[in-house]
Amino acid sequence: MRKIYIFDTTLRDGEQSPGVNLNTREKLEIAYQLERLGIDRMEAGFPAASPGDLAAVNAVARAVKNVTVIGLSRSRETDIDAVREALQGAQDPCIHLFLATSPIHRQHKLRMDKGQVLETAQAAIRYAKKYFPKLEFSLEDAGRTELDFMAEVVGMAVREGANVINIPDTVGYLNPAEYGAIFKYLKENVPDIDRVQLSAHCHNDLGMATANTLAAIQNGADQIEGTINGIGERAGNTAIEEVAMALETRSEYFGAKTSLVLSEISRTSRLVSKLTGMVVPGNKAIVGANAFAHESGIHQDGMLKEKTTYEIMTPETIGLKESKLVLGKHSGRHAFRDKLSDLGYDLPEDELNAAFSKFKELADKKKEVSDEDILALLEARLLDTPEIYSLRTLYVTYGNEATPTAKLVLSGPPQEPIVAEAEGNGSVDAIYNAIDQATGEEVKLDDYSIKSVSQGKDAQGEVHVILSQGIVAAAGRGLSTDILEASARAYLDALNKLIEKRKTYTGRENAHL
Ligand code: KIV
Ligand code: ZN
Repeated sequence: MRKIYIFDTTLRDGEQSPGVNLNTREKLEIAYQLERLGIDRMEAGFPAASPGDLAAVNAVARAVKNVTVIGLSRSRETDIDAVREALQGAQDPCIHLFLATSPIHRQHKLRMDKGQVLETAQAAIRYAKKYFPKLEFSLEDAGRTELDFMAEVVGMAVREGANVINIPDTVGYLNPAEYGAIFKYLKENVPDIDRVQLSAHCHNDLGMATANTLAAIQNGADQIEGTINGIGERAGNTAIEEVAMALETRSEYFGAKTSLVLSEISRTSRLVSKLTGMVVPGNKAIVGANAFAHESGIHQDGMLKEKTTYEIMTPETIGLKESKLVLGKHSGRHAFRDKLSDLGYDLPEDELNAAFSKFKELADKKKEVSDEDILALLEARLLDTPEIYSLRTLYVTYGNEATPTAKLVLSGPPQEPIVAEAEGNGSVDAIYNAIDQATGEEVKLDDYSIKSVSQGKDAQGEVHVILSQGIVAAAGRGLSTDILEASARAYLDALNKLIEKRKTYTGRENAHL
């Protein structure tokens, strides 16, 4: 079996999903989970984009130990220097340089001819190689680049000492036969191509990212790039969990495997969804809520007789377990600790105590505390943003024939408590108007979504919001057994992050410039 290296770019290309903005703590939480998942390489961000991005990449670089940490860089010295700074303290640093090679990008974006593209890329690789023993070079929009020019650029990168050469289908334009053929062509036509690893990086604009990635593997790709849940620019990137499970389920067909700890897939998917606010559709392959559900009578009958009739892989493989032990308000610390270890968490004593008291508060409001509730509490534990404003009390008056009113008290600068009262065209609107009044902040609500964490009328509601103020945007999340309180908490969470972010913001650049 050939080993396929997994290059995860959830924290970089994934974070480029519209509306997604991860702060350093959230990036760290995802990075630790990706490490548990067993990925080989982690692209932590684009340090030149902003000081905040640089600091977040540095925090990840210092934190994870068993993974190569990568920083993205355009082919220019200032970007390379930003990656040098960001990857200080990394155990195994790597720089990822890119330059577009397609005629469309050369003509309209770069305004360079082929010779200038070659020269610029070569100069950047030479400069970066002075500081980084490990270097990946990407030919942006390779999918629409002339094959002979692609081979020329790849040949130059091989000679200059690149370790990995990435062939992105940046705009998700190709089909599997075409994409696979590129890898075959490069393998057959570039001298010394075996000195480097070839990498596949696909976008999902036509829904073919996973199929294209698998075609690349069949034609010699050694590494695949993707994100958890397939998040990313526009229609997203290749979903890593899909490729990993395709290789696992059809291992004889592909003759290749990854080193992923497959039983961590479900938890990783859930964490990424929660922190990015990007809900996984129920019918999403592998990690959607319905991926292992059987609805029709005929299917259920088949499943009861023999699971393989309708199940090509088991939910246990990706870490989905049926819970037997349900906790409630009489459960003690011992049962709680057992439950956590069952869920794969081994918390230090202080965090265990904090989680236990949050669990007790919840158990007072809710008869049965499910695994989903506990996971939601655990995932919230490290994410409390430095609280500039926090909610003390909230009263909402609603009647279907009256104007909804919210009255609240916040803690926060400059004086506290801050009391505000406002009306709105609905209860949530009234709450948000009251918060705006209390804080004096003018923000735009770009997105609001709500879902229940578990089943039952007393289930906890989880609200995600995205707020923006000019070019700065931030996502926030709130959890409560009451959806109005969850709405208020999500708004304040986003607002606190937005205020933090505004302090360091110098203008975010797009990695595809
Ligand atoms: O899609 C793309 O081309 C990229 C590059 C920066 C590798 O994300
Ligand atoms: Zn990309």
